[in-house]
Amino acid sequence: MAGYVVVGTQWGDEGKGKIIDVLAHKADYVVRFQGGNNAGHTVVVNGEKFILHLLPSGMLHGKGKCIIGPGVVVDPKVLIKELETLEEKGAKTDHLFISDRAHLIMPYHVKLDELKENAMGKNKIGTTKRGIGPCYADKMTRSGLRVGELLDMNIFKERLKVNLEEKNVLFEKVYGAEKLDYEKILEDYKGYAEKLGHRIMDSVPEVNEALDSGKFVMFEGAQAMMLDINYGTYPYVTSSSPTTGGVTTGAGIAPNKIDKAIGVMKAYTTRVGEGPFITELVDELGERLREVGWEYGSTTGRPRRCGWLDCVVGKFAVDINGLTDVVMTKIDVLSGLKTLKIAVAYEIDGKIYKTVPASIEKLKKATPVYEELPGWEEDITNMREYDELPENCKKYIARVEEIIGCQISMVSVGPDREQNIFIKEI
Ligand code: GDP
Ligand code: IMO
Ligand code: MG
Repeated sequence: MAGYVVVGTQWGDEGKGKIIDVLAHKADYVVRFQGGNNAGHTVVVNGEKFILHLLPSGMLHGKGKCIIGPGVVVDPKVLIKELETLEEKGAKTDHLFISDRAHLIMPYHVKLDELKENAMGKNKIGTTKRGIGPCYADKMTRSGLRVGELLDMNIFKERLKVNLEEKNVLFEKVYGAEKLDYEKILEDYKGYAEKLGHRIMDSVPEVNEALDSGKFVMFEGAQAMMLDINYGTYPYVTSSSPTTGGVTTGAGIAPNKIDKAIGVMKAYTTRVGEGPFITELVDELGERLREVGWEYGSTTGRPRRCGWLDCVVGKFAVDINGLTDVVMTKIDVLSGLKTLKIAVAYEIDGKIYKTVPASIEKLKKATPVYEELPGWEEDITNMREYDELPENCKKYIARVEEIIGCQISMVSVGPDREQNIFIKEI
């Protein structure tokens, strides 16, 4: 049995898509377990770039089954578009299935996300405006519509009516916005049901059976540790659990079926949207990281905020996720910097913290306590063996390993599938 989980350890965009694609070539299943099309996972195959939002990053191998699991929120319009885009590029898509338990993102969720964000003004979260939060909110208040309901339009249309009536009152009375049209939504979703119906399945028994019969199943996380609804920088978080804990509820498997928990960690830090970012660099160095690392959102195109590696966050991710391995990505972006800094603690009101405090007010006041390490000049993008790496690069990796308390089994030195250095077997 082999159940591998791949999760983000920072604020997202660590390069999870690339790493899942690399590891998925031998997977029998790749299963997304949370989030929705707020994700933007980049996979580069032979120089061609694919950005996947809802589709699992294992799609491009065209071998194992890819499943959008029960814990995901699905915008069917976006999903159909993504499938069509892949098909236009000649990729196979008949190995994609969707859990009947996944919740449907409806047009009123997208509209509400937008209205809420706009109404919050300077206090906004900076969401992707894809309807993620409102959809998960409906799920929790038990009024959501699920993918399985697309297979029974009689149930679907009744539930849509009740939901839309409530949302339309909110749009008109609270936000002074226009109502949405019931018939139009119903027609659209009937069309989506026709296009997606044959892909809808009960994924839970099949995934469990696969694990029990020794198949290799990869669980793909979207977002990351610090965007987790419970442990992230609340309220500046997403509305799901992108941690390994989320796999059990989001994919319907037990914790003892997880053999490896792999955390993807960018060699520096980025964040999109609002909220505290302790090691942020709002200077030329931050600009440099953004330009060299091409740090622009894969989903919204927004420039990502950039800063030094934060090992307080790194250690937190190791603990919360029970990481067995870390993959360090984008270490090539650090080449050419004379000195590198790693945050090892925070100072808040004169007190030293080695863990991430829950209070957003404390985090806003936190300043990083840095350790400095010498950098390296060499371009490492063509290196494929650990021994080839510059000594200072090896020291950087070793020091991070030591602080976070988890082995770094692989480093990624460029966006392409081939640009990897395996240090230990994963
Ligand atoms: P994800 O959301 O975690 O899958 O990450 P994104 O795809 O949003 O952002 C990562 C970006 O970095 C993408 O443009 C990738 O092609 C790119 N990338 C991934 N790994 C590396 C790497 O090791 N080096 C460099 N230079 N780019 C990388
Ligand atoms: P991947 O999977 C980076 C951020 C948004 C916002 C907050 C809440 O590509 O790493 P939401 O739309 O989820 O309600 O927005 O979370 N966010 C991400 N940031 N990478 C992502 O996904 C993200 N998904 C959501 O920018 O700050
Ligand atoms: Mg991304």
